[in-house]
Amino acid sequence: MNAQHSSRLPGFYKRSLPERAAIVAEWAGLTPEEQAVLLGVSGLNAAQADHMIENAIGVYGLPMGIATNFLINDQDYLVPMVIEEPSVVAAVSNAARLFRAGGGFITSSDEPLMIGQIQVLDLADVYVAAGAVMAQRDALLRQVDEIGGSIVKHGGGARDLQVRPILDTPVGPMLIVHLIYDTRDAMGANAVNTAVEHLAPQIETITGGRVNLRILSNLADQRKARAEGMIPAGELATERITSEDAVQAIIEAGIFAEVDPYRATTHNKGILNGIDAVVIATGNDWRAIEAGAHAYAARDGRYTSLTQWWKDEQGNLRGAIELPLAVGIVGGATRVHPAAQVALKILGVQSARQLAEVIAAVGLAQNLAAMRALATEGIQRGHMRMHARQIAIAAGASGDLVNRVVQAMIEDNTIRLERAKELVQQFKRAGSN
Ligand code: MEV
Repeated sequence: MNAQHSSRLPGFYKRSLPERAAIVAEWAGLTPEEQAVLLGVSGLNAAQADHMIENAIGVYGLPMGIATNFLINDQDYLVPMVIEEPSVVAAVSNAARLFRAGGGFITSSDEPLMIGQIQVLDLADVYVAAGAVMAQRDALLRQVDEIGGSIVKHGGGARDLQVRPILDTPVGPMLIVHLIYDTRDAMGANAVNTAVEHLAPQIETITGGRVNLRILSNLADQRKARAEGMIPAGELATERITSEDAVQAIIEAGIFAEVDPYRATTHNKGILNGIDAVVIATGNDWRAIEAGAHAYAARDGRYTSLTQWWKDEQGNLRGAIELPLAVGIVGGATRVHPAAQVALKILGVQSARQLAEVIAAVGLAQNLAAMRALATEGIQRGHMRMHARQIAIAAGASGDLVNRVVQAMIEDNTIRLERAKELVQQFKRAGSN
């Protein structure tokens, strides 16, 4: 637990990478081995990769950054994010600082309940079959738990059965049986798939039908996480916009995403910039999260925003997010990938639910940052600055020189490598005179 530390680290972004790594190592109590993993000295190696997938030929690296300023349910977090896109980590940290000024994020989550599906066909009467399955509910749930395994040992296991007749399909009526399974701190795909495969023969006997698919559903809508928070309007004022106008513009941007699927897609993509980066950092399955998020966003038949934004009675901005977040802190790549282990240690989360709640807060923070930029100055200005930084570094600038070269390139609106090289030489000459 990192409750004694503040994640408010002013100027963190201005430090060098080794300095930042040292600050985080101190903060999270990382061992020298764990620090070596982050610096790429050790980490996922080819031999481990060979055990993870088929036909492995090597490994592929991505940057890991730290989002600062997160205060969630009165606890401070440094959030590891793995992402190739510039600006996301900075934007999320900045937004977390704004939420912090309003008291931080308040989060909550459902029990870690996954859905396993069994598709039953060739039934004389779908409703009679559904009734027969439900009549055996308790015995079937007991049978699932008899498989055992570490999830059951840790208090998880089968919780419920649900039946969903679907009458009108091109292959005739079918009965879909849902097994609701508590996966505790695991994402749980393996346990759920094992459970539904185990149940299938029984379901055939009970219904007299034929089972086709047995697989979990990524629409994990019984395993949602929520985050909400307030940003004092005054925090949103800049030289160019008043706080009232900024609040209004952000609310308008939020409503745009609520009413228009074209905008909602991009809006949610931005949210997932934040979410996926933490999901990847912690070794979780980001395709599962993406699939669940988009399906949930379309749950009422029309694709919409994953967030809501409104103004409270004091004129402050408030936002909330809710989405399925099936992530684990044990099993799968979270266990195999050395950097995922370190990421979890930096986060200091004690349960899969706590991780899901942090991820929801990151999604909400990213959304605020994107909407604020879009609704005020546009995102290109910030992006150009990041781009200019990369060019300045490529031109050989380091330390303070980076910011001076960036500033000079932005002022003359020429963000090019040759120009950056000239500036580096020029500043170095001036410095040595
Ligand atoms: C870019 O990766 C993400 C944004 O387009 C998100 C948004 O439009 O809200 C900036």
